[in-house]
Amino acid sequence: MFRIDRNLTADELDKALRADVAEGLTARPKQLPPKWFYDERGSELFEDITRLPEYYPTRAERSILEARADEIAEAAGSVALIELGSGAGVKTRLLLDAMRRQGDLARFVPVDVSGEFLAASARPVADDYPGLDVHAVVGDFERHLGLLPVSEDGRQTLAVLGSTIGNQEPGPRASFLRDIHDVLHPGDCLLLGADLVKDPARLVAAYDDPGGVTAAFDRNVLSVINQRLGGDFDPAAYDHLAVWNAECEWIEMRLRARSAQHVRVADLDLEVDFAEGEQMRTEISAKFRREGLTAELDAAGFDLTRWWTDDAGDFALTLATVR
Ligand code: SAH
Ligand code: TRP
Repeated sequence: MFRIDRNLTADELDKALRADVAEGLTARPKQLPPKWFYDERGSELFEDITRLPEYYPTRAERSILEARADEIAEAAGSVALIELGSGAGVKTRLLLDAMRRQGDLARFVPVDVSGEFLAASARPVADDYPGLDVHAVVGDFERHLGLLPVSEDGRQTLAVLGSTIGNQEPGPRASFLRDIHDVLHPGDCLLLGADLVKDPARLVAAYDDPGGVTAAFDRNVLSVINQRLGGDFDPAAYDHLAVWNAECEWIEMRLRARSAQHVRVADLDLEVDFAEGEQMRTEISAKFRREGLTAELDAAGFDLTRWWTDDAGDFALTLATVR
């Protein structure tokens, strides 16, 4: 069974993009929010990132799921799995398999802002899991959680994998966890994938590969602005940087203008200048510690009940319960 809800029409998506780009390009320092990376090309580039030797998080999280999926399914005992930022959903199948074996899973709700990619990845799930109600939702998980089809007839698990939780700053992240708490019921589960603090050299390499795939992903946000808002960015005029911020314990992705740039964004009636060497922040990827994450979950109304890592201790998968 397959259906897809669109909480976000192309029109609304456009409005949100315009507002974010107008605000970000006129801010000092300039910055752009991460969800705009994921047009179709961006989603494909992200899949390429997950296969890079330097980018360990996807493999680490997959190895935890391979080892622990049955344990997770057992502990979660859910009739529904909601996944925010589901993307290509390769790892999710390990979870779906285990939850089906465990017995109660009736519904899968993948949610993503990238509509085309979501449809292409979720429809095959419906084909491969006969009897599973696959209810895909195109939406912004920062704004549309209230519109999700939540279950009233049994326990559910909401998953946020891939350390997507780390792409928000602490303030918005706290609200996000609180919003998740508020759409779930007592006893429901949150399965969170979180990348852990480690040697900065490995972290930087994971976000700045020598082949330039991550750089292409970062610059793609400029192409999105060109295509959707009539911008005239020259993506090749910007260098990609990945910087470890030791105080905040996050990686910052930035684009740095190689020479002075004058940019026009026609649909916004906006002209912006970049000085030579000017940097614009495009993304953060926060790294976590067990105590910190436990406290953040606690503040949002969750009890952390399980904590699994891969053998190297690079990445954590945590299960928390709504109080
Ligand atoms: N869960 C997958 C993909 C992670 S990439 C994995 O672990 O590999 C992050 C995904 O979240 C992308 O598919 C992107 O389109 C989606 N995303 C980012 N911001 C979003 C938002 N605000 N609302 C909904 N989806 C979002
Ligand atoms: N959630 C992923 C992470 O923080 C997203 C990501 C991976 C990413 N590689 C990136 C975002 C490169 C921007 C640039 O690891």
